[in-house]
Amino acid sequence: MYFENQKTLAEPFRIKMVEPLKVTNEAYRLSKLRQAGYNPFLLNSEDVFIDLLTDSGTGAMSDRQWAGLMMGDESYAGARSWHHLEDEVKDLTGMPYVLPTHQGRAAERILYGLLGGKDKVFISNTHFDTTRANIEFTGATAIDIPCAESTDTETWAAFKGNMDIEKLESLINEYGSEQVGAVILTVTNNSAGGQPVSMANAKAVRDVCSQYGVLLVLDGCRIAENSYYIRHREAGFGEKTYREIASGMFAIADAFIMSAKKDGLVNMGGLLTLRSKDLAERCTNLLIISEGFATYGGLTGRDMEALAIGLREVFNPDYLEYRIKSTEYLGNHLREAGIPLLWPTGGHAIYIDAQKMYPHIPVHEYPGQALVCSLYQTGAIRSVEVGSVMFGKTTDDGMLIPAAKELVRLAIPRRVYTQSHIDYVVEVFTRLKETAAATRGYRIVWEPPFLRHFTARFEPV
Ligand code: F0G
Repeated sequence: MYFENQKTLAEPFRIKMVEPLKVTNEAYRLSKLRQAGYNPFLLNSEDVFIDLLTDSGTGAMSDRQWAGLMMGDESYAGARSWHHLEDEVKDLTGMPYVLPTHQGRAAERILYGLLGGKDKVFISNTHFDTTRANIEFTGATAIDIPCAESTDTETWAAFKGNMDIEKLESLINEYGSEQVGAVILTVTNNSAGGQPVSMANAKAVRDVCSQYGVLLVLDGCRIAENSYYIRHREAGFGEKTYREIASGMFAIADAFIMSAKKDGLVNMGGLLTLRSKDLAERCTNLLIISEGFATYGGLTGRDMEALAIGLREVFNPDYLEYRIKSTEYLGNHLREAGIPLLWPTGGHAIYIDAQKMYPHIPVHEYPGQALVCSLYQTGAIRSVEVGSVMFGKTTDDGMLIPAAKELVRLAIPRRVYTQSHIDYVVEVFTRLKETAAATRGYRIVWEPPFLRHFTARFEPV
């Protein structure tokens, strides 16, 4: 890609259509922040300059995908666009049954609704929030067993997203294989910092699942990003294409769930693919009841057309190089500027250690919320707290049981921001570092009974 020793990371695309961004001043942003109860989830997106809230459904489609929208076949049954998508997904995954859903969690609800139940246990390198919620909703238990390296936030390791194989085996023995609803391998491991999973680890998980006769599900919404890391960090994959590496990972799974809003390069969509005919039939019944007929599920014909194209584009080597390197670029520059962050950087996001950035703010005054608010007030940048606001619990007598870490996630939308936008983010952080000692914490003035981070209201301490 590019030419040898090139330093500038020029985006491998040019811009054909623009979406203007509003430039605001600090007084304006402070008033908007106050109105939003100091919770960036409650801001209007038009008041945000750089939106790093999520990489989910926020990417830019290509000219080919937009052209695909015009070709969408909106027939209720057997649409041409469905066949395009089905062929593409079968070719990629090697799985014979493909179910289209409106997004990832709909696929989760269908599959885990069937596999779950009161006495069941699910084991994952780390369950994403909606995965855990869909499992727990059935009465089942979800257990996370990330590898030991994942707890060390500072030392570089190639595959911090891996599953702990010894624990997997001992948990299956402890509960008995009939009780295990499924083993879920999340690639990349979003909740553990967007860290990749190695092929060796995936194969070891497969071996244990085969030995005990347990179903293995791949939660692979960032499978292309994971393939990049395998090719560049794991011995023996340097000559393989990213798509071949992904196929290798699909080959070891019994089922695949995808939020297509990530590596599907579309704004809405999801997939569930299966090897078992019996399970596919039962899932299809639920799909028809809750999403739509089997040949569109939760999607329009044009959505399916764009997704079929996105699933091919995402494995383009120039795209993937740009994707991973541009996220790394932000991480490297923030690190050089002395901003504490999880290392190495993840594929889709940078996680800032807000407790290290604001050591003077106690956990019950939410250092992550302080950073999220400062980023908006100073730079109109929107990010998300992943700390005690999101995961902390309050006891009956009002004491906070804090989260393990006080982090802030900067998730990078795909093909949306240029390098100068990212340089701008780095500059804002440099300014926040200078004023860090004077930054104050926040207290919660209102919160809902669950998932409080979405709607809670705060005020500065
Ligand atoms: N699995 C993983 C690993 C995810 O990251 C997500 C979504 C889902 C499942 C659910 O998919 O949103 O299409 O229903 N992650 C988004 C995020 C929301 O911001 O990380 P969905």
